[in-house]
This record gives sequence, C-alpha cells and structure tokens, in this order.
Amino acid sequence: MYRLSCIAVWLTLLLQTFVAAESHTCTNPAVRREWRSLSRAERAEWVRAVKCLTKLPNTKVIRPTAERPDDIPPLNTTSSYYDDLVYMHMDLNHLVHFTGLFLPWHRYYVHVYEIAMKKSCGYTGVTPYWDWTLDAHDIFGSSFWNDPDPLSGLGSFGKAENGYEVRDGAFAAPNYIRPYPWPHGIRRMYNLRPYSDFPVKALPDRNIMANTTYSPQAVEKLLNSHPGNFMEFQRDFEKIPGAHPSVHGTITGYEQALRLSKLSLSAAYV
Ligand SMILES: *[C@@H]1O[C@H](CO)[C@@H](O)[C@H](O)[C@H]1NC(C)=O
Ligand SMILES: *[C@@H]1O[C@H](CO)[C@@H](O)[C@H](O)[C@H]1NC(C)=O
Repeated sequence: MYRLSCIAVWLTLLLQTFVAAESHTCTNPAVRREWRSLSRAERAEWVRAVKCLTKLPNTKVIRPTAERPDDIPPLNTTSSYYDDLVYMHMDLNHLVHFTGLFLPWHRYYVHVYEIAMKKSCGYTGVTPYWDWTLDAHDIFGSSFWNDPDPLSGLGSFGKAENGYEVRDGAFAAPNYIRPYPWPHGIRRMYNLRPYSDFPVKALPDRNIMANTTYSPQAVEKLLNSHPGNFMEFQRDFEKIPGAHPSVHGTITGYEQALRLSKLSLSAAYV
C-alpha cells in the first residue's frame, strides 16, 4: 500500500493536479539501487527472480489494446509471464512514448515487474538500475556490460560473427532463449553512432556520438533546462537524438542487431 500511494503521489505531482494532503504519507518507499552497488549475491538473487518469471505461465488474460500497428508482433500465448511483461511494453509503445505519461508509466511498469518478482518468485531485493552517466565515457568497456559470471553477470556485447548474440553471463544464448516475438537469444550490439542509418529523413546530425547525450554534463543540463515544464523536459529526453533513444541505440536491441547482422552476414557471403 505504501508503495502504491508513493506512485499515486508521484503521478499526481507530475500531472500537476491537486494532491490530497493525506497522500503525503509515503514513509517506506522501495529505494532502487545502481546495479554495481549490489553485492554478487544480490545480483545473483535478482537474476534468479527474473529467470523465475520466465518459468511462470502466460497469464491468458492479456489482450492487445485497440489497434495493433505492424511493428508490434502479437503475443505468443505459449510463452511465459516474463514475456507477457515484454509484450505489454511493446503493446503500449505507441501510447506511452512522447506523451507526458512516459516516465510515470515506466516507473509503474517497473513497479509491476518488481511486485511480480516478490509475490511469485520470493524476491526480497529492490529493482536495480543502470546509471548511464557512470559509463558514458566508455560504454563498450563498462563493468556493467562486461561481467561474464554465469550467475550474477549481465554478459558482454555480442560479436558480429554470432549475430551479436550475448554468449556469456547469466542470460547467455543458447541456454537462455526468449520466445517473444519469436524464439531468439538476447542480442547486444555496441553502436556509438546509432543514428547513421536511422530511418528518419530529417536528422540534424546523423553522426552524433550517442553517448554525448547522456554524459554527466548532458544529463545535468537536461535536468536543469526546463524548470516547471515537464512536457518540454520529456520532449528533450525522448527526442531523436536525446538521451532516451541514445541509450537504446548504443546497446542496440534485438531488432536492429538482427537487421545489421543479416546485412553483414549477407555482405560476407557476396
Ligand atoms: C563517448 O565514447 C567514446 C568511446 O568510448 C569516448 O571516446 C568519448 O569520450 C565519449 N564521449 C563522452 C562525452 O563521454
Ligand atoms: C512461442 O513460444 C514457444 C516457446 O514458449 C515457441 O516454441 C514458439 O515457437 C513460439 N511461437 C512463435 C510464433 O514464435
């Protein structure tokens, strides 16, 4: 209840509506921690709980929201609860991004994920996060991504010859396979210039180094540039190339890594 009321307060403040005096009773909020401030045992416990969610069945009640654009593959109903959560993020992508609700929505989403880990998987820790500013100067060499420990490490960046599949750490392929949107190993492609082939015509600087948008100085500037104007702050954060798409782009994701690995594989065969 405490945490729910915290979120209620947070949401309400952000939406700049009136907050009832009694909702200020948020006395015991969960405090999220930077991944590297967790001990090895705490990291392993988080990994265990995430993997536990992947063993729980699909909820069977999840339904797509009204319109499903082509870029949102349908839910795989023989997958797991974990994949339901991934699907929910996909399903709502077009509704939550570029609205004043994105950050509070995301905070609530992570909260739901954490509650599931606690209720269904006995997790007693808190949700960790990645402080990008600690690594902006050297994402490729970051200790966040270069931990091969099979129980507590997040693994390294994938290599082109493996289609950028992550082959070490706790979520290594081929042991760890996710079924949504179709069966695949996790891919992680380091890409400091993710906008160079971005399918949007008008970009001010295609060759911008993505990490310049989430360095400690850039984040400080972002946080201080829009006093009292949440919409402008959020637009700045989510714009292309702002901090949000730039962090995604630097570690790329499954789709772009797959596309590029296909390109480089076919180039290798020509
Ligand atoms: C971005 O990353 C490159 C490669 O690691 C590094 O040389 C550069 O200094 C970084 N830029 C910032 C602003 O940290
Ligand atoms: C759905 O997930 C299952 C594994 O849980 C997998 O065997 C199947 O191929 C997936 N279906 C599709 C269409 O990707």
